[in-house]
Amino acid sequence: MARTSVKELLGLDPKLQEIEIDGWVKTFRSNRFIALNDGSTLNNIQCVVNFEDFDENIIKSISSGAAIKVKGTLVESQGRGQSVEIQVTDLFIHGTADPETYPIQPKKHSFEFLREKAHLRVRTNTFAAVMRLRSALAYAVHTYFQKNGFYYMHAPIITGSDAEGAGEMFRVTTLDPKNPPLNDEGEVNYKEDFFGKETNLTVSGQLEAEAYAMGLGKVYTFGPTFRAENSNTSRHLAEFWMIEPEMAFYDLDDNMDLAEDFIKDVLQYILDNCQDDLKFLEQRLLDEEKVKPQAERSAMALIEKLKFVVDNNFKRVSYTEAIEILKNSKPNKKKKFEYPINEWGTDLQSEHERFLVEKHFKCPVILFDYPAKIKAFYMRLNEDGKTVRAMDVLFPGIGEIVGGSQREERLEVLKQKMTELSIEEEELWWYLDLRKFGTAVHSGFGLGFERLVQFATGMGNIRDVIPFPRTPQNAAF
Ligand code: 4AD
Ligand code: MG
Repeated sequence: MARTSVKELLGLDPKLQEIEIDGWVKTFRSNRFIALNDGSTLNNIQCVVNFEDFDENIIKSISSGAAIKVKGTLVESQGRGQSVEIQVTDLFIHGTADPETYPIQPKKHSFEFLREKAHLRVRTNTFAAVMRLRSALAYAVHTYFQKNGFYYMHAPIITGSDAEGAGEMFRVTTLDPKNPPLNDEGEVNYKEDFFGKETNLTVSGQLEAEAYAMGLGKVYTFGPTFRAENSNTSRHLAEFWMIEPEMAFYDLDDNMDLAEDFIKDVLQYILDNCQDDLKFLEQRLLDEEKVKPQAERSAMALIEKLKFVVDNNFKRVSYTEAIEILKNSKPNKKKKFEYPINEWGTDLQSEHERFLVEKHFKCPVILFDYPAKIKAFYMRLNEDGKTVRAMDVLFPGIGEIVGGSQREERLEVLKQKMTELSIEEEELWWYLDLRKFGTAVHSGFGLGFERLVQFATGMGNIRDVIPFPRTPQNAAF
């Protein structure tokens, strides 16, 4: 018998066909109705059991979380809310789930509780919906780039360079931590380490993607990146997935156009293909908001918010304009910002980004031309000598979702910048080579995949959109 999924069954015409299905029991009511789910869809299939027909022990084994096989006849459903159901003729228990100890009971669990049960939480409706959407978004990302002439490039995970120059890297070593070899100066001698030099987990695949863009034209990476920044926020992970397109011959405007088109495209994909899960998450948010005071409720429901982003132009604003807006803003004047904005040149905090997006412009914003001092070494210097061709895409509820720039393609200017920041030329000799041989205008950006999933699902905490989150003091599972 062909294996079918619940999703397929729910779409079938009931013609008294004999079917067989495996899944986990969501609920078992009145010793008669099993709601069965196999992960293929949010919806359960109802299996109707005549308990007199079965061994008492089998009936006793059916409880929330148990894995079972059901054989039976697909019939039109008598109940509401479903078109078909299964009249069960045969039952097989794959594995029971003791109700005394199985943590995922059919009731509301807090996300904090479920984080402690990260290996089981995908069996809840919310996490299953989030993870199906995550998968759909990943598919949409690949589809977007593949259909637009980009090549998927696998950047290395272990690297010898700090792409962002922020020094937030996890060391990779095989040296004995108790007794590492020392050099003449008494420091750890990494020449004796596995790679013969200091290595770390990558914070970004950008530098390597640049090398590939200068041969393949348009490339993108989509892989794990690592940051040892000690930020315990709802938007930071120590291990997260980043998508980094890099394009030869693109300037900053082309880069902004691409970022906007890309985000809209992947959101449109889930609007077109994931309505069940989106509707479920939207309702979850609406229920959650009911208990909040009116002022804290969001103006738009989830699907409306996604459509709004897809249908409206992102507002493009220079850093300098943004600083003027922020300086003169109510919260700044009333000293409501934790970090007041007094002068040009200060870095923007998430409170400022969110003010611009949520209060001032009320739409996604792309900020560009940031002060050179607060951005990475590789960004192209503008003619004014103090700003760089950087861009950040800011989203409601999220803040920065994309960071990117036009890259410095001029060898001398790049060298000068590296000298100022004490970045050794020997360390990035190959990166400088790209400016020596066939250099050209080029640009790219990085999109934090979990922040995108957060936006798409309305989940408040980034820990709840990645299967097994890694954050400071937490690498369980
Ligand atoms: O702005 P970032 O640091 O930019 C880069 O790494 C560039 N090399 C990208 C490029 O131009 N190719 O990071 C890019 C994005 C951020 O906008 C954010 O969405 C996400 O990565 N991000 C994080 N997401 C989760 N946890 C963290 N700790 C993150 N740090 C950055
Ligand atoms: Mg950034």
